Amino acid sequence: MGRGSGVTEISHRSNRRRLWCVCLWLVGISLVGVVDCGRSPGAVLYFGSGCARCHGADFSGTQLGPPLKGLKAYWTPESLSQYLDQPASFGQTDRLKALHQKYRISMPRFDMTAEQRQILVAYLLGKTGD
Ligand code: HEC
Repeated sequence: MGRGSGVTEISHRSNRRRLWCVCLWLVGISLVGVVDCGRSPGAVLYFGSGCARCHGADFSGTQLGPPLKGLKAYWTPESLSQYLDQPASFGQTDRLKALHQKYRISMPRFDMTAEQRQILVAYLLGKTGD
C-alpha cells in the first residue's frame, strides 16, 4: 500500500459525502414542492404563470385584469382552452371587446402544453363556476 491508495480512499469518501449532500438537497426540494401549500396542479399553473397578478388570488380581478367569475356561463372547456391558447383571436366578441377596452394591457398568451391548458381550464371552471 503506497501513499497513493490512501489518497484515493480519502477522495472516494468525500465523493460519497458529496453524493449524500446532493441527495438530501433533492429530497429537500421535493419536500418544498409538496409543502408548496399543497396546491393542486391547476393552482400551481394559475399562480405559477402569474394569472393572479392580473386576475387576483381570489379571482376577483385587479386593475390589470377582470374578475374571473361565472366563467361557465361563457365558456366550455374547449372554447376556454382555445381562448388561453389564442386570446387575441377572441377579441371580436362584444363581451371580450368591452373587457379589452377597459384594461390597458390585454390578456397575454401563455406558452403551455395542451395538457397544461386542460388542467388550468378544469381548475378555472371549477373555481369560478357560478
Ligand atoms: C397582464 C395581465 C393579465 C395576465 C397576466 C393574465 N390575464 Fe387573463 N385577462 C387579462 C385581461 C386584460 C383580460 C380581458 C380581455 C383582454 O383585454 O384581452 C383577460 C381575460 C381573461 C379571461 C376571459 C374572462 C372572461 O370574462 O371571459 C380569462 C378566462 C383569463 N383572462 C384567464 C387568465 C389566465 C388563466 C391567466 C394565466 C395563465 C391569465 N388570464 C393571465 C389580463 C391578464
